[in-house]
Amino acid sequence: MYTQSLDLPGQTPAALASVDTPDKRQAAFDARMAEDAKIEPMDWMPDAYRKTLVRQISQHAHSEIIGMQPEGNWISRAPSLKRKAILLAKVQDEGGHGLYLYSAAETLNASRDDLVDALHAGRAKYSSIFNYPTLTWADVGVIGWLVDGAAIMNQIPLCRCSYGPYARAMIRICKEESFHQRQGFDALLAMMRGTQAQRDMVQDAVNRWWFPVLMMFGPPDAASTNSAQTMAWGIKRISNDDLRQKFVDATVEQAKVLGVTLPDPGLVWNAERGHYDYSPLDWDEFWRVINGDGPCNRERLATRVKAHEDGAWVRDAALAHARKRARRDASAKAA
Ligand SMILES: [Fe+2]
Ligand SMILES: [Fe+2]
Repeated sequence: MYTQSLDLPGQTPAALASVDTPDKRQAAFDARMAEDAKIEPMDWMPDAYRKTLVRQISQHAHSEIIGMQPEGNWISRAPSLKRKAILLAKVQDEGGHGLYLYSAAETLNASRDDLVDALHAGRAKYSSIFNYPTLTWADVGVIGWLVDGAAIMNQIPLCRCSYGPYARAMIRICKEESFHQRQGFDALLAMMRGTQAQRDMVQDAVNRWWFPVLMMFGPPDAASTNSAQTMAWGIKRISNDDLRQKFVDATVEQAKVLGVTLPDPGLVWNAERGHYDYSPLDWDEFWRVINGDGPCNRERLATRVKAHEDGAWVRDAALAHARKRARRDASAKAA
């Protein structure tokens, strides 16, 4: 069974195992934070730290799994065998990312069944971006270029997250996200070198995705309620607005190479700041979509619930097999 946990009972690092009063435990945890050391599953940690991680890691896992849908929709319609093979690999990677992350959440004593139930019941959040439709093949390329590109920007700092299993999961995930971003850019480049109709299709997709992608970094710092605490805990390393700015600055140059126009007249170089300025985002739209009323929220959730129900026989068979093996082992021991 794949696990993110490196610690086994009895191997708890001495610094935290040897302290036994609440004050001392908190002080040892704080010292760990101060020296930027990792927290591992068997270590003592404050309840709020654990809860925050379970929420963030599970929302991340849900996003990976729901994120399979917009592109999965195009696997049977990919324009060539090569593009189909690439897209299949990419969508399977996203499923794998979900599994590493659910495993990381389980190291915090969260139950995967509970997390999945919360998603299916609409109680859990996932990235707002996956509630937008993929109308043309160009959308698949734009998701790779912009959505996976934004995901990398968000996720690279998480490789240094203070919680060990999450940080280690992110290292592998980021390597795969890099492939996702490149395949998207490559698909778009091929279309931009094609016919005028293909170039128009790419531009239309960029026009529709640009602003929702910028919202993937979350609300502005001033309105982001959890940010200060998650920064202090070493879970979050760079603020929403700083990540968004880094993404804008990097992407403007890539858009020039592609030959597409980013759909924001306010996007201009600010020599004084040394960054690109951009227009204010429509945060009402963000909150509407994140709270369940985006173009595809209902469809995404219904598809996910159906996939889970259709897979019930696989889970039942795996459990029956495990029970049979346990019985066999028990009778072998008794003999
Ligand atoms: Fe992913
Ligand atoms: Fe990805």
